[in-house]
Amino acid sequence: MNILLIGSGGREHALAWKLAQSPQVAKLFAAPGNPGIAEEATCVDLDPADHAAVLAFCKAEDIALVVVGPEAPLVDGLGNALRAAGIAVFGPDKDAAQLEGSKGFTKDLCERAGIPTAGYVRTRSFEEARDALDRFSPPYVLKADGLAAGKGVVIPETKEAALVELRDMFGGRFGQAGAEVVIEEFMTGEEASFFALTDGTTVVPFGSAQDHKRVGEGDEGPNTGGMGAYSPARVLSGELQARVMREIVQPTVDTLRAEGMPYSGVLYAGLMLTEDGPKLIEYNARFGDPECQVLMMRLESDLATLMLACAEGRLGEAEDVSFSKRTALTAVMAANGYPGTPEKGGAIELGSAEEDGAKVFHAGTKRDGETLVANGGRVLNVTAMGANVTEAKAAAYEAVDAIDFPSGFCRRDIGWREVEREAQR
Ligand code: AMP
Ligand code: GLY
Repeated sequence: MNILLIGSGGREHALAWKLAQSPQVAKLFAAPGNPGIAEEATCVDLDPADHAAVLAFCKAEDIALVVVGPEAPLVDGLGNALRAAGIAVFGPDKDAAQLEGSKGFTKDLCERAGIPTAGYVRTRSFEEARDALDRFSPPYVLKADGLAAGKGVVIPETKEAALVELRDMFGGRFGQAGAEVVIEEFMTGEEASFFALTDGTTVVPFGSAQDHKRVGEGDEGPNTGGMGAYSPARVLSGELQARVMREIVQPTVDTLRAEGMPYSGVLYAGLMLTEDGPKLIEYNARFGDPECQVLMMRLESDLATLMLACAEGRLGEAEDVSFSKRTALTAVMAANGYPGTPEKGGAIELGSAEEDGAKVFHAGTKRDGETLVANGGRVLNVTAMGANVTEAKAAAYEAVDAIDFPSGFCRRDIGWREVEREAQR
């Protein structure tokens, strides 16, 4: 079959790399892609927001499956437009994508379905939010309802600071995404990510990971899209994963189906492992970035077959999903300035980074003549495998050290929590 992959980041490079390994795939296209993806697929200049153009391309190239990497096209209804034309899509329709597109939608769904999550109030004005604050204790968790490129959550320590933030949020800091603000109870525990594939009815666990969201070592400094990740997340034991499936993921999929908005694609649950058990922090309607990169390193099953089974409602008939028992770890190399304004155009030499089995996924690169240069905040995802996190980390940083990228930086401590635990074992 011919596949069209939508997206241009490290997540999509990892998906393209895995899809290209499938004997089921005849031609792989990516829109718009990047220089790394171009080694696996034919990159095409298509705007995912132009549904008619994407449809016309699919017809012209006999595309059997469209795989949507990022959330924005899903929330924007690209899935609906393609499905209406009879084209299979990996990724949910617009209604179901509200799981990521509206935090209030997800909280209400959790309440209806009895899914464990933080207590919350949805507010639509500064005054309403100010009054609601009294029902919570500090630190206050304030979330812009809509998509805010991962920046929509603030956690002020005091009521005064919370009021300043709320004024700002309702004042338009996040545009339309902040027209509504969800206030949540603060949960404590360790965070972990859990992934599941679903066709709207059948749900299959699809691995776990932990990422590092802060830009600085020791998890300090401003939030980013993620500076590194590893998989599996050992804290999410088999028993806990079964509980997450039973108490969180399966009821979500069942409720959405029962309410006429079946969810198909990957469901990414951000979890807090609290003293009272796992609780949902948030859902994403797509793979995590860079979590996807470590999942794809470990995946042994045929990704194209699984994605098509999700899209065609046949996941129940698909063979078992298999992952390597080994650990994968990825370190993000970012351009100086990230997560503020990243320096663009810095030259990159990959050198011998991939010689010992590591894989360098391109996140924000472009070609400037023959030279590979930085073209974004997160630039490279240097990914390697090992028997455990300690070994995978050593292999990933060996590859990092082989790369020459003078205008970039990376955290040297990805996986530190697990490395400490492994040293205790
Ligand atoms: P989100 O974008 O919803 O994943 O939130 C970003 C980060 O904020 C999460 O990864 C958590 O570290 C933190 N966070 C979000 N909601 C809560 C909560 N209710 N309690 C504690 N921390 C939270
Ligand atoms: N790495 C976090 C995310 O993809 O949302």
